[in-house]
Amino acid sequence: MGDRSVAIVTGASRGIGFVIARALAGAGYDLAICGTRTETIEQAGNRLADEFGIEVLARAVNVADREQVQAFIQQAAKHFGRLDVLVNNAGITRDTLAMRMKESDWDEVIATNLSSVFHASQAALKPMMRARKGRIINISSVVASMGNPGQLNYCASKGGIDALTRSLAREIGSRGITVNAVAPGFIATDMTAELGEEAQRKLAEQIPLGRLGQAEDVAAAVVFLAGDQAGYITGQVLHVNGGMYM
Ligand SMILES: NC(=O)c1ccc[n+]([C@@H]2O[C@H](COP(=O)([O-])OP(=O)(O)OC[C@H]3O[C@@H](n4cnc5c(N)ncnc54)[C@H](O)[C@@H]3O)[C@@H](O)[C@H]2O)c1
Repeated sequence: MGDRSVAIVTGASRGIGFVIARALAGAGYDLAICGTRTETIEQAGNRLADEFGIEVLARAVNVADREQVQAFIQQAAKHFGRLDVLVNNAGITRDTLAMRMKESDWDEVIATNLSSVFHASQAALKPMMRARKGRIINISSVVASMGNPGQLNYCASKGGIDALTRSLAREIGSRGITVNAVAPGFIATDMTAELGEEAQRKLAEQIPLGRLGQAEDVAAAVVFLAGDQAGYITGQVLHVNGGMYM
């Protein structure tokens, strides 16, 4: 078993997942990261390894595929000889009104955002239970609590994550494993940048802190929940949304 703690982050080739991985690297973790494309996830892994001098295992994995995601978790635990933290971050949207939503829009979002969290967590439990220690952190969304027109599938997947988080926390608390969710609000990403300045200003007006969040705001909450100081927190959904929902 290595000296350094090990964290897995799914969906870490870009966006919030990459920034979470970078923050964990900065906090001294070795990493196993996955994304959809080999080239981009390997680039992300090389960047983090060079910048922080840590070991990074980077793999293309479709988290919607039970066998692939469970094999990845097992490979990471075997490679590093330990698994301290699992961050279930990978997620997609297939937005459209309920009346027009195709079965595939529903199935893909539920498989990628929700079933993946069950499958990855199930695989992570084995090494964590053996160590009687572990942290599972699931990336939810403010819309799980608020609802959002055109995002029935996405909201259902994130609401499912919040409920799964509470159930698993109750089930495995006695094994020294905590399970929490982080629910971001509107975060400035490539996606929100495309909205244009006017739309972003309108969004910011609905937020008490008067600005969109940064991926770093989400990553800081994840690093906190992963760390020793959060040892008595489990089954919670930590909202990182500038006050837009409270
Ligand atoms: N951006 C926001 O404002 C916001 C708000 C609330 C919640 N979130 C959540 O935060 C998480 C990250 O969002 P983001 O904005 O950084 O998204 P993004 O689209 O920029 O990045 C998503 C990442 O997930 C990976 N991914 C997608 N499908 C995958 C699959 N099937 N298998 C493996 N990896 C896959 C992609 O490769 C990428 O690395 C998601 O769970 C999202 O629902 C985002």
